[in-house]
Amino acid sequence: MRTPRTTATAVAHANIALVKYWGKRDAALNLPATGSLSITLAGLTTRTTVRLHDGPEDRVQLDGVPAAEPVRQRISRFLDLVRAEAGITARAEVVTANDFPTGAGLASSASGFAALALASSRAAGLALPPPALSALARRGSGSAARSVFGGFVEMHRGERPDGADAIAEPVAPPEALPLAVLVAITAEGPKGTSSTAGMERSAATAPYWDAWVASAPADLAAMRAAVRAGDLARVGELTEHSCFKMHGLMLATRPAILYWNEATVAVIHRVRALRAAGRAAWVTMDAGPQVKVIAAPVDGEAVAAALEAVPGVRRVIRTALGPGARLVEEP
Ligand code: DP6
Repeated sequence: MRTPRTTATAVAHANIALVKYWGKRDAALNLPATGSLSITLAGLTTRTTVRLHDGPEDRVQLDGVPAAEPVRQRISRFLDLVRAEAGITARAEVVTANDFPTGAGLASSASGFAALALASSRAAGLALPPPALSALARRGSGSAARSVFGGFVEMHRGERPDGADAIAEPVAPPEALPLAVLVAITAEGPKGTSSTAGMERSAATAPYWDAWVASAPADLAAMRAAVRAGDLARVGELTEHSCFKMHGLMLATRPAILYWNEATVAVIHRVRALRAAGRAAWVTMDAGPQVKVIAAPVDGEAVAAALEAVPGVRRVIRTALGPGARLVEEP
C-alpha cells in the first residue's frame, strides 16, 4: 500500500492550437479524431492545490468560490481516475484559480486539467512520467494533454483503442521560433456551446467532417516542418488555414456553431490590414470570441496597440511562449 503524499500544488499554462483539434474518435476515453499542434503560453496560468482528506466528498473551489455542481462533478470524475491508478479512496479538496477569464474560449480547461493532473497524481502518491501525465490530463480535456509540455507541442491522434498512444510530446522548445502572442478579449462571459458538445455535433452533422479528419496529417506534417525550420510566415499561413477550416466546419454543423462576435471579425480584418502593411501577424480563434494573434516579437507591441484600438476589444493580453506544467511549493 502506497503512502499518499496527501497534498501538492501545480502550475500550468493555457495553450493555443496552431493546428486544431475538433472531434473525437472515442468519447469515453476522450481520444481525438485528429492530432493537433499547439504553443504553450507563458501567461494565462492556472494554479491548483489538491489536498486529500477524510470527508465524504470532493470539494472544489474555483477562483475563490465553491465551484458550480457540474464543474465539481467533472473534477470528481477525473479524481476517480487518479484514485483508481493510485489505489486509494480518499476524497480531495481542490483549490484552483485562473489569472484569466474562465470558460470564455481561453483554454481554461487545458491549463486547468494539466495542473489538476499533476497536483492530484502527486497528492495521491504517484510520480507519473510526462507521457503518462499527458494521457491522464487528456481524460479531463483533450487540449490539456498539450499543456503538460512547454514550447511547441504535438498531440497525437493515436491508433490504439485503449488510447495509450493518444498523448502529446514536445516538438520544439520556445527558442526554436520566438513569438509574441496577443489575446484580444472581445467578451468576458462564458461561451455558448461547450467544445465537447460542439465537436460531437460537428462529427454527426457537418458534411465536411471526413475531409477535416483526412486533411489533418498533412497540416501537422507541414506545421512540424515549418516550426523546426523557424519559418514564421509559413507557420502563420498554416495557423490561419487550420483555424478557418475548423470554423468553416463549425458553420457547416447543424445547427451552426458560431463563436465569433462583431469584434472578433473586426480584429481579423485589422490583422489582415497590418499584414498588408508589413507586420508579421496571424490570427487564430477557438471555441469562443477571443482572437489570439501570433506575431514576430519585433512587431508585438505595434500589433497589440493596433488591436486595442479596434472597437469592441476590451483588453489585450500580451504574452509569449512558456513552459509546461510543474509542481511548485505550497503557498
Ligand atoms: C477549439 O480540449 O476543450 O480549442 O477534449 O472535449 O475537453 P474536450 O475539448 P477541448 O477542445 C479544444 C478545442 C479547440 C481547439 C484546440 O485547442 O485544439
